[in-house]
Amino acid sequence: MASATRTFTRALRTSARPAFSAAPRVAFRQGGRRFYSSEAPSKTSSSVGIWAAAGGALVAGGAYWFYQNGSSSATPKVFTPKFEDYQAVYNEIASRLEENDSWDDGSYGPVLLRLAWHASGTYDKETGTGGSNGATMRFAPESDHGANAGLKAARDFLEPVKAKFPWITYSDLWILGGVCAIQEMLGPQIPYRPGRQDKDVAGCTPDGRLPDGSRGHDHLRDIFYRMGFNDQEIVALAGAHALGRCHPDRSGFSGPWTFSPTVLTNDYYKLLLEEKWQWKKWNGPKQYEDKKTKSLMMLPADMALVQDKKFKEWVQKYAADNDLFFKDFSAVIVKLFELGVPFPEGTERWVFKTLQ
Ligand code: HEM
Repeated sequence: MASATRTFTRALRTSARPAFSAAPRVAFRQGGRRFYSSEAPSKTSSSVGIWAAAGGALVAGGAYWFYQNGSSSATPKVFTPKFEDYQAVYNEIASRLEENDSWDDGSYGPVLLRLAWHASGTYDKETGTGGSNGATMRFAPESDHGANAGLKAARDFLEPVKAKFPWITYSDLWILGGVCAIQEMLGPQIPYRPGRQDKDVAGCTPDGRLPDGSRGHDHLRDIFYRMGFNDQEIVALAGAHALGRCHPDRSGFSGPWTFSPTVLTNDYYKLLLEEKWQWKKWNGPKQYEDKKTKSLMMLPADMALVQDKKFKEWVQKYAADNDLFFKDFSAVIVKLFELGVPFPEGTERWVFKTLQ
């Protein structure tokens, strides 16, 4: 996000929000762009061809074999990416978010976060299947599951990043995309650790593991308890709906939840409690609209958070305290993004610097 955009969006946090905060178009900062990605890079960028030649065999523990000069008879080298290498990938994603500002409300951030969540939210604690380790949404049938409609845009957005940093797995890249999206949309710091490995089509999970927006509290508990979350964590996770919007050509639902869909705040909870919500009269699936402006929406699944007494207690806490929301959101997102991932012992978590 450009600094002008950051200033603008930060200001929005403390002021009334009469209109959508679609990020203003920022000039592509060709001259002023920093080349984070070409520092570790000299090593990394020259390894692009090397990777293609070597096939990029992965070694457990985050080290990667490659052959210099594209010759398999040469001595294989081991490249062990470090913090700086992942920061370079982060910077590349953040720069691309800033440059590609004509998507939706001005940012690919929300759809990147949704990709990371849908990659992770297939986890089943009983069988240990699903989760972000695998990036199996690259393949049909998982890519065709109804809940994943529209996420090709996010996968495509990250493709040039993968091409530039071929040593990173899709699984780690998609999650790093989610981390970057949250931080660049002015959310809390999200500690990250790498170590996910891609699986083939056999790792695809069955349809039906992700929540259905048209259903209520029992369904939410079924879905999120299966992943290992409790009621507080369900409500904290749902705060992500401060971001982005529903699209008639994807989920069938329509509209944003908040007036600032590219800035993470606790507005989702405030609006749930403070606005009057009524059924929207339209030909689409049943959803709510705010009575006052008719420009915001809530899914039946969102309204379940204020209809259920236990959920509502947490909605009230997060509506009253943005710091508490940020703290709990960060913790629960880290848990979500790490479900079922067999990290090598001792893998530390890193916090990436945001693009200034
Ligand atoms: C509580 C159960 C949930 C339900 C029923 C649900 C359902 C939906 C639906 C129907 C959409 C609209 C998709 C579209 O039409 O493009 C959506 C969008 C979105 N969801 Fe959720 N979701 C849930 C939980 C979550 C969680 C846990 C996260 C992240 C932590 C999340 C993040 C998002 C984001 C960022 C978008 C906007 C995407 C965009 O603008 O393209 N959701 N969700």
